[in-house]
Amino acid sequence: MRLLFFSTKSYEQALFTEQLDSSRHSFTFLEPRLTLETVPLVTEAEAVCVFVNDELNEKVLAELAERGVRLVLLRCAGFNQVDLVAAERLGLQVARVPEYSPHAVAEHTLALMLSLNRRTHRAYLRTREFNFNLAGLMGFDLYGKRVGIVGFGKIGCCVARIMQGLGCDVRVHDPFAAEPAPEGIRFSELAPLLETSDVITLHCPLNPDTHHLIDGAAFAQMKPGVMLINTSRGGLVDAKAAIAALKSGKLGYLGLDVYEEEADLFFQDLSDRVIPDDVFARLMTFPNVLITAHQAFFTREAMARIVSTTLANLDGFERGAVPQENLVTACRRQGS
Ligand code: NAI
Repeated sequence: MRLLFFSTKSYEQALFTEQLDSSRHSFTFLEPRLTLETVPLVTEAEAVCVFVNDELNEKVLAELAERGVRLVLLRCAGFNQVDLVAAERLGLQVARVPEYSPHAVAEHTLALMLSLNRRTHRAYLRTREFNFNLAGLMGFDLYGKRVGIVGFGKIGCCVARIMQGLGCDVRVHDPFAAEPAPEGIRFSELAPLLETSDVITLHCPLNPDTHHLIDGAAFAQMKPGVMLINTSRGGLVDAKAAIAALKSGKLGYLGLDVYEEEADLFFQDLSDRVIPDDVFARLMTFPNVLITAHQAFFTREAMARIVSTTLANLDGFERGAVPQENLVTACRRQGS
């Protein structure tokens, strides 16, 4: 089968090349994102393999179908970037990697919390300059603090266990949670969780209901000096409202691995360019903001799983049976 990869980096190309059976598949790796401008690069491919910031809106999907594509392989869990209704109408199958390593994302969430709290990123720079002054580096004990987790799925559960291990008082909000809360963890409505948490961390999917879930009104409900972590999807947080909350001191710490407009920024070296995004540039000026560029998933174990599941989806498609749990259809709403 002829397969075209978009948004690929050298580290992924090597992993896929090792595993892909070149006697059965021909494949090409492209670095650009899939957009309406780059879709003409698709010639003679039956499948495209894409990542989190590729555009799979109605127009792009229609072009793909027109060019003979029948399968869209997502190298990620989230599928907010795909117009699933259009995909179904156009006869395109969409398959994803529903779980590659919730531990990878949960552990990165903890890394952001600890770095922000104990300012290890700032201490590292200081000690390299032989500046051993502690002023400005004071943190707080996480032990005994209330941590509010929004979204109690695979990643949210891992984060809850980690935070319990640190002796935190864990509250979770998830309107669709099927299971009762494990021992020591209590479910909460969103408002009391926002009002009482010292640390709030987001692990729900991005969909029309959760877009800007954390906006000016949500910040107004939070405790002064609260820490907010978002390793889920950028669109969950209204970045302009976050800047206002940082300026007023309401938001004491902000850790982001995702950003709503990240598609034009992340996964590339822009160190010699002018960043045109003033909101992002402003966020970078705060000493209590720590941003990583969508790397929470990026562990050896997660990458191996992404490759194996993507190839299982490809093989399944050829046999006429993509594993049901990996198929994404218009009636499958994220998180429901
Ligand atoms: P999951 O589907 O296992 O869990 C999501 C949970 O959110 C579900 O329990 C669902 O009921 C809940 N939910 C849905 N709407 C909600 C709402 N309005 N309020 C509160 N909870 C709600 O997904 P998983 O694997 O835990 O991933 C969570 C998110 O993490 C994904 O949607 C994806 O966007 C993001 N992610 C980020 C990565 C990164 O590298 N930064 C890597 C992998 C996933």
